[in-house]
Amino acid sequence: VNTKNIAILRGDYIGPEIMDAGLAVLAAAAKKSSFSYQTIDYPFGGAAIDQTGTPLPIATIEGCQAADAVLLSAIGGPKWDQASKRPEAGLLEIRNKLGLFANIRPTKINSILAKRSPIKAEVIAGTDFVIVRELTSGIYFGKPRNQTATAAIDASTYTVEEIERIVRVGFKMSQHRKQHVTIVDKANVLATSKLWRQVAAKVAQDYPEITLDYCYVDAAAMKIISQPTFFDVIITANLFGDILSDEASVLTGSLGTIPSMSAGSTGPNLYEPIHGSAPDIAGKGIADPISMIQSIEMMLRESFQENQLADQIAQAVQKTIAAGILTPDLGGTATTQTVTTEIIRNLEG
Ligand code: NAD
Ligand code: IPM
Ligand code: MN
Repeated sequence: VNTKNIAILRGDYIGPEIMDAGLAVLAAAAKKSSFSYQTIDYPFGGAAIDQTGTPLPIATIEGCQAADAVLLSAIGGPKWDQASKRPEAGLLEIRNKLGLFANIRPTKINSILAKRSPIKAEVIAGTDFVIVRELTSGIYFGKPRNQTATAAIDASTYTVEEIERIVRVGFKMSQHRKQHVTIVDKANVLATSKLWRQVAAKVAQDYPEITLDYCYVDAAAMKIISQPTFFDVIITANLFGDILSDEASVLTGSLGTIPSMSAGSTGPNLYEPIHGSAPDIAGKGIADPISMIQSIEMMLRESFQENQLADQIAQAVQKTIAAGILTPDLGGTATTQTVTTEIIRNLEG
């Protein structure tokens, strides 16, 4: 058998809690199938700082590069906020080292959870869009970046090549969806955004069937909440995508349910929830594991073409949600463990 190697980055605070839950669900699902995999843990983030002095040891980079896919929970937290190299720096570096320029963050309303959203049911009904976030450039990586006692600078740069490859990812996705691309930018102010619009207009010529429009990021932030069904594929720069994806998660009921995939042109993809390490609820056993479980589902589909296995997990999650077995972020009283056990029971039943 062709055994897949999955690199595991367990993360900090709720990271290990939801990773344990996700891997237990994966093990239960795979048991009944021909899917063969092995996992290897690598030190990463705050835990790696504690063990080795750095958030991204070389062995972790090499292990991830050699893997068929990488699973990450979430890193960072107050314990390391003053570190000279923070866990977050390790996250940016691994994305960069693996060339993961395309980060896919879905927002799809689960009709059972619609009432958990603070946004009106009639506004969110039918919402189904993806944010295609550029992940290895822009203001996150621009140089110079420095801080003195009296001033600080963060530079934002994009090359045509960097814009074109992410825009193409978004257009290709839209071909199999609602054939509508929205470029979200700040082209009324920023030079990089003006370049984004030029490149997008050119790429669009190769996709005549797809409707292209542009939306300023401030207006987009409003429209995501007020008219979310407008969107199909949002393509946007690194920082805008970071912010808008947390905002969009509110439509679905909880940040704790949203998965993501990060992909490059070669090498393994990385799958991770969009949220962070939630230090405020860590150790309480109440973290929502659905973001991690759905990240694993995404991995099964996108890296391993194990659609049947992914569908089984999706159905087991859906049954659990329908039974009202929910963690507090979704208005329930269940623990991480209860939700996980129930999902596994539904898989086996
Ligand atoms: P956060 O996403 O960790 O938490 C925001 C809020 O959402 C908190 O109230 C938290 O309890 C809740 N939440 C998040 N995930 C949840 C889940 N699975 N179940 C239930 N509730 C959940 O954001 P933050 O508090 O601003 O950041 C905490 C740390 O995480 C910081 O160090 C930050 O840099 C880091 N971070 C890491 C990643 C990552 O590893 N990819 C992403 C975002 C933030
Ligand atoms: C995310 C996170 C990271 C980001 C941080 C922790 C560096 O917020 O994955 O959304 O900004 O990309
Ligand atoms: Mn974020």
